[in-house]
Amino acid sequence: MKPTKSFLFLFSAVITLSSCNNKINSQSTAKNSLKNAYKGDFYIGTALDINQIEEKDPKVTNLISKQFNSITPENIMKSMFLQPEENKFDFDVSDKYVAFGQKHKMFIHGHTLVWHSQLAPWMSKIKDSTSMAKMLTNHITTVVKKYKGKIDSWDVVNEALNEDGTLRKSVFLNTYGKNFITHAFKTAAAIDSKVELYYNDYNLCNAKKRQGAVELVKNLQKNGAKIDGVGEQGHWHLETPTLEEIEKTILDFSALGVKVSFSELDISVLPSPYGLQGAEISQRFANNEKMNPYPKTLPDSMQVKLAQRYNDIFKLFLKHKDKISRVTFWGVNDTQSWLNDFPIKGRTDYPLLFDANLQPKKAYESIISLKVKK
Ligand code: XIL
Repeated sequence: MKPTKSFLFLFSAVITLSSCNNKINSQSTAKNSLKNAYKGDFYIGTALDINQIEEKDPKVTNLISKQFNSITPENIMKSMFLQPEENKFDFDVSDKYVAFGQKHKMFIHGHTLVWHSQLAPWMSKIKDSTSMAKMLTNHITTVVKKYKGKIDSWDVVNEALNEDGTLRKSVFLNTYGKNFITHAFKTAAAIDSKVELYYNDYNLCNAKKRQGAVELVKNLQKNGAKIDGVGEQGHWHLETPTLEEIEKTILDFSALGVKVSFSELDISVLPSPYGLQGAEISQRFANNEKMNPYPKTLPDSMQVKLAQRYNDIFKLFLKHKDKISRVTFWGVNDTQSWLNDFPIKGRTDYPLLFDANLQPKKAYESIISLKVKK
């Protein structure tokens, strides 16, 4: 039987309508979700605390799985938690973390193998290079092996640099010497050749520190160690760093042939004591009214400023999406943010995209609007 003209017309009308509907549907899912809006550009991640990992609040779990397609453990994989005593590993919560990522089909990041802060106390007492080498090898081998094929990328070394680009006088440098970095990367790659390995730090938008990180990457490459990417933490402010500095950072690292990620993004709207930038977690200052101007709510004018800043930054990220692997926010919503207690304890900051009631802020809309036309 031959199809009649009117049947063909009806058929093509149904096809057009349904493809139109698909478009509308994909636009509306993108509108309601960061991960869908930025699909194909880069992963959109968040940092999880222990309550979120243990799925204590279903509303929070829903928000995380709807909005994000990558996770980072905010604290629970730091050495003081994973190996609190020599050779006594505790993988209870990190197993739940990895299971969370698998269940929600997420890109799972590990943070962090070698860091001078939140270091297991026994590690900080190591005095000689042989014991330090033994500790580094054992810690990295055990942890990377445990999650081989499950964790997709690791911060192998975190914050090894001073602000002037020289190496920080950490217990690792003081005992092992500067090659502790190469040792760490080679050890991780020897255990899992597929997992992506990152160097992670803050203030890499500052020229001297960035140059230090460039040298660090070059040195790893010269020594034959595999490094896949650099994570710029991105603990930023409304005015600093400038877009030019951020762009330079993206360009300088990608010129070395490594991926760039923004691994701990948050934008403080609060005054910064003594012009402090960055995230050296040992720095603390006293609280007072001037330093905590929005204890109850953030005025609309500030919401708008924050939204504009996020919009500018994401426009730049999109311009360089071919170089950026992942953008991870340091927390799900404002109440979780570590900035409420850093660098001054007990303030109220508003650095993320979701507010205290888990509602999207203007900053959220400003990022989504770059991908979804009204
Ligand atoms: C922070 C956590 O968010 C806090 O809960 C904790 O008290 C201190 O560490 N750079 C890093 C992160 O690499 O691990 C830090 O996370 C923030 C600075």
